[in-house]
Order: sequence, then C-alpha cells, then structure tokens
Amino acid sequence: MRVAIASDHGGYSLKRQLLKRLGDTGDSFVDFGSDSEESVDYPDYAFEVAGRVASGEFDRGILLCGTGIGMAIAANKVNGIRAATVHDLFSAQATRAHNDSNILTMGGRVVDSELAEQIVRVWLKTPFESGRHARRLETIHRVEQDGINTAARTKEES
Ligand code: RB5
Repeated sequence: MRVAIASDHGGYSLKRQLLKRLGDTGDSFVDFGSDSEESVDYPDYAFEVAGRVASGEFDRGILLCGTGIGMAIAANKVNGIRAATVHDLFSAQATRAHNDSNILTMGGRVVDSELAEQIVRVWLKTPFESGRHARRLETIHRVEQDGINTAARTKEES
C-alpha cells in the first residue's frame, strides 16, 4: 500500500519513530514533512496528505500532531476523506472495519511510539467489512456532495 505520512512539530518525534519501526510492513511510506520540531501549522500538512489520498495518488494517510485532533478536523474537510483519531487497538480495528477510514491520526503527546506502531499495523491490515457499514458511509457521502438543507429542516421543525 502507498501511505502518505506527515506531522506538525507536536507529532514530529512520533513520526520519526514510526518510520524507523515500520520498515517491515511491505508498505511504502512517503514523508511530506514537517522536518523538525520547529513550530508549524498542522492544517498545511493535513491538506497536503488529505489531497493526495482523496485524489488516489496514495491509498492511505497517517497524520501526527500533538493530539491527533487538529489533523483529523482539517483532513475531514476534504471530500472523500474519512480521518479517524485513534489511540487504542480496538478503535484501530473498528475504524477500518466499520468506517473504512483512509487517514489515521494520532497525537505525539498522547500515545507512546510502541502503542502507536501497533495501532498502525492493525489499521493497515484490517479490511473494510462493507455490508450495513457501506450504507452508512453512503449517507455521509451524500451529505458531503449535496450538503444538508438546514433551512428546510428548520421550517419542518417549527
Ligand atoms: C500544536 O501545539 C498543537 O496544537 C497541534 O499539534 C495539535 O495538537 C492540534 O490539534
């Protein structure tokens, strides 16, 4: 699998650790920065990776910041992206099986590198279960395309 990875300063050290540890997965990881612990803005890195995953240039993305949360908020603004912040093994498996997440985000200030490595391994190898979960993703996709008609809803409710 082709995996795009990036971090801000809060996730930089974790990214370095992961790239060192994940050489044996058979996947190719391409690093889109940042390149130091100097302060940078996480949305710039989130959009760099999310755009490449959404376009099909990469199969998956991994984004690391202090909490993983800012990266997920930004990445999920890109059509076609399903980014999940994960800090445990159950969620790593579930967000692939149920949500078909295509971007994994983690916080370098939240999770240690050993657990993060296991999370990535589970997340990379777990397939999407489809079935009822596909129907739910179709609903999300429809809103992503068409938006929610909030004006009509407010009228109905009043
Ligand atoms: C940077 O200090 C921090 O806000 C960022 O790494 C991330 O945690 C944002 O969600």
